[in-house]
Amino acid sequence: MDTKTTDIHPTDNEKWWKRAVIYQIYPRSFADSNGDGIGDLQGIISKLDYLEDLGIDAIWLSPVCKSPQDDNGYDISDYQDIDPMFGSLADMEKLIQEAGKHQIRIILDLVLNHSSDEHFWFQEAKKSKENPYHNYYVWRDGKEGELPNGMRAAFGGSAWEWVPEVQQYYFHQFSVKQPDLNWENPELRKEIYDMINWWIEKGVGGFRLDVIDQIAKEPDREITNNGPRLHEYLRELSRETFQKADLVTVGEAWGATTALAKLYSNPDNSELSMVFQFEHICLDQIAGKEKWDLAPLPFMKLKEVFARWQTQLCGEGWNSLFWNNHDLPRIVSRWGNDREYRVESAKMLAILLHGLQGTPYVYQGEELGMTNVQYDMEDYRDIETLNLYQERLEKGYTKSDIMRSIYAKSRDNARTPMQWNDGRNAGFSDGEPWLKVNPNYTEINAAAQTADEDSIYSCYKKLIHLRKQNAVFTDGVFELLLAEDENLFAYTRTNASQQLLVVCNFYGRTVPCALQQPEASMRLVVSNYKDADQLANLRPYEARMYLKG
Ligand code: GLC
Ligand code: CA
Repeated sequence: MDTKTTDIHPTDNEKWWKRAVIYQIYPRSFADSNGDGIGDLQGIISKLDYLEDLGIDAIWLSPVCKSPQDDNGYDISDYQDIDPMFGSLADMEKLIQEAGKHQIRIILDLVLNHSSDEHFWFQEAKKSKENPYHNYYVWRDGKEGELPNGMRAAFGGSAWEWVPEVQQYYFHQFSVKQPDLNWENPELRKEIYDMINWWIEKGVGGFRLDVIDQIAKEPDREITNNGPRLHEYLRELSRETFQKADLVTVGEAWGATTALAKLYSNPDNSELSMVFQFEHICLDQIAGKEKWDLAPLPFMKLKEVFARWQTQLCGEGWNSLFWNNHDLPRIVSRWGNDREYRVESAKMLAILLHGLQGTPYVYQGEELGMTNVQYDMEDYRDIETLNLYQERLEKGYTKSDIMRSIYAKSRDNARTPMQWNDGRNAGFSDGEPWLKVNPNYTEINAAAQTADEDSIYSCYKKLIHLRKQNAVFTDGVFELLLAEDENLFAYTRTNASQQLLVVCNFYGRTVPCALQQPEASMRLVVSNYKDADQLANLRPYEARMYLKG
């Protein structure tokens, strides 16, 4: 089936990205072309056929710009060059061009809240208060040892770092090698717009904006996200850059509510295309504590959160649909079952998500049902995980408590190399991978799944194709069914000519379903069991998607 050439909704004048499915690549873990153990741009180019077969429309590429890699590229030292570890600018141009031949657009990850401390701007900024770049960053006077205030950095420690040369502290919301950029400075903003326009001219399809809700920080008032000037900055940014082309822009916003999301993603295009918010994915932690403080998933709350976002954004904003990214554990291990029901539960989670309104994101390996890992501490690489381990040891947590949190939530769960086949290093690299391969690659890998109609991969492929061929996925109005049911997640999406019905058993036991058997005009289009007939009972993790019209 060639979905690329069929125009899917000929009457639909909506933006392309409302019908799109976006695939996220974490470049260092995707495919290594030269055997140095690190994935690279040529590696991605070599896998474009695979991505076209899956049916995705765009790749969100985690950062590949020049970087000392303190936070795996989220610490950029040159926004207009590629880190040699990933290739060259010519490789990037080639990727944009080759991906285009597969009808795939490239979305760059823009890290605009902070740069690397090795960026030329910061190197200059810290020389003197009079340096023209000084005001590109956020400085406060003080005395060594007397912090401006008690704010903490996301990766541990104080958010303030002393620089003797200028006798000032600089502010960093993440690691000390990620100084915050000062958006109050119009010169800095202008410099950023020029850089973005340069990338637009190179033909990128859009941008993912890293922690964009933190750019308008006001540390004197201890404000980090949603600062008062945030939407003013976003509107200026959009006007000066994005609005000049037909791009997709997605803002990472941990602190977004539905009301804020309507500002970010107002259909008038004044800010961004869509928001990438985390309310549903933060539910399995103790309220008010950190992600490491584990709590069981409150399923009823999950339903309420999804239903609220679906209902409140309809017609007034646009949301991202995701279970995974490079910062989150693998969903099949997290909320599915990565043992006896791995295949069923991975498909259930896909079916549940892909019927919703919004733009679905598939994170590399999710389409194979890749799982979390449990490594010895010396095998972890992520700065957040390493810092957490030290910090909690010092606070007196037991090692086994800390490891339990790391197994459940470490970002390295998502970052183990992509599992291409059952050969050496899962086909990811001929060299020693920068992060160990998940030992289950002999069983879980792309080669085993692409040709198998019943695989998780094939389920994703089907869901992606259905979205392109049926407008109801884009514009259907959401209604939650069985709101009180403690096992089932069920909903409909309805437009003038079509209706979608999705029914999912979220748990590993057979449960009764109170819905009527769907009428004959409702065709079963995706399911995760053979002999899916009566709806009266749903087997462990059973999921069905029906479509009428
Ligand atoms: C975002 C990124 C994360 C990074 C952080 C700082 O949350 O997704 O990987 O560490 O921003 O840039
Ligand atoms: Ca490489």
